[in-house]
Order: sequence, then C-alpha cells, then structure tokens
Amino acid sequence: MFKGVLFDLDGVITDTAEYHYKAWKKLANDLDISIDRTFNESLKGVSREDSLRLILEHGGISDQISDQKFAELAKEKNDNYVLMIQDISEKDVFPGILQLLKDLKAHNIKIALASASKNGPMLLEKMNLNQYFDAIADPSEVAAGKPAPDIFIAAADAIHVPIAECIGIEDSQAGITSIKASGASPVGVGKASDLGDDIALVSDTSHITFSYLEKVWAGK
Ligand code: BG6
Ligand code: MG
Repeated sequence: MFKGVLFDLDGVITDTAEYHYKAWKKLANDLDISIDRTFNESLKGVSREDSLRLILEHGGISDQISDQKFAELAKEKNDNYVLMIQDISEKDVFPGILQLLKDLKAHNIKIALASASKNGPMLLEKMNLNQYFDAIADPSEVAAGKPAPDIFIAAADAIHVPIAECIGIEDSQAGITSIKASGASPVGVGKASDLGDDIALVSDTSHITFSYLEKVWAGK
C-alpha cells in the first residue's frame, strides 16, 4: 500500500493554473508575444523564471532582455497573479480534494505539497488546507525545477516516506515527467493528448478518491 501522497497545487488542488495562464498571457501581450493554450501546456508546472525564459524565447527576444528587465518582468507577472488570487478561499478547492485529504488522513497516509509555486503556502492557507499537509517542499530550495525530479524527492523526504511508496498527482507535462523520474507513481489530471496514455489519468479531480488511488496502486 502507498504511504504518502505528493500533491501538485496549481490545477490539482484549485484552478490557479488558469490564473497563471491569464497573468502570463497579459505579460506576453504587453511584449507583443502571442501565446495560446497549446503553448501554455509547456509552461504548466514550470518555475516562474523558467516560464518567463520560455516565453521570451518563443517571442524571439531573449537576447534583448537584460537581467534587470528579466527580474522586473517576473515581478510584474507575479504581482498581477497575486492580485488575481486574493479572493481564493475554501469554496475554490477542486471537487473531491477535501474528501480525499480527509480520507488520506484517516488512513494515516502522509501528505505533502510538491508545487513549483512560491505562492503555495499562501494558497493553502487561503483554502484552509494547511492542517492536512504534513510538509510543504520549498521550490526555492531545490537544485532543479520540474521536469527534474527534485521537488517530488524533497516532498517525500520531508514526510519521511520512501519515494517509491508515494503517489504523485499532477496536471502538467513537466510534473508528470518529474514524478516518473523521481520514482513515485503518477496520477495525471487532464487529457492523454497532453499527459500521455501510459499513466493513470482522470479527467477531473472528482475521480481521485481514496479507493481510486488504492486501485492505481494495486494495478501498478
Ligand atoms: C506551478 C505552475 O505550480 O508554479 C506554474 O504550474 C508556475 O504555472 C509555477 O509558473 C511557479 O509559480 P509562482 O507562483 O512561484 O510564480
Ligand atoms: Mg499544476
């Protein structure tokens, strides 16, 4: 039986993946760079700085941006994003997630956050979910962001569960690659066309029940 569950946040616990997209789209538009939802799939799960790098490369203007301007742009995106998420509360937790957290607790399964977002702790607090998390891996402490495995390994370490006994839940391509490389068992939230057809996949979080995770574990 699995002993730990490592959650991504944006797009898994709540709909903040959409706000990240809106904030990046506004920043890109202001720079005359056009991004769409297909391109956005490559940004999901990726750190703020790496996302900005990808957008500037996409627009072909990486070499025109000084380090200072880069830092200003990253801050501008985050300031805008933080404004968008101010009103997030318990009502915004995705369907099934609260029940899943309660069921995991009842079964003594350890729970950790493995999000690339530096806004993760604030969001958990806003949604009143802190009490369920045994640990929050700090994305600013890991050597490499998703798709590297570091953040999932750090999350498993923080709850003192061997990574091979953990399930990781993700909505992003980078995140699924990260889970696979870490040695945890992946559950994807999304479409096979985005996340691949070689993993356990649900179309939305309402399907990720405790018994679903038991089935995934038994079938791996
Ligand atoms: C990930 C999101 O969870 O966090 C990315 O999927 C985002 O879209 C990344 O860029 C970093 O988030 P933040 O809040 O630290 O800018
Ligand atoms: Mg995500």
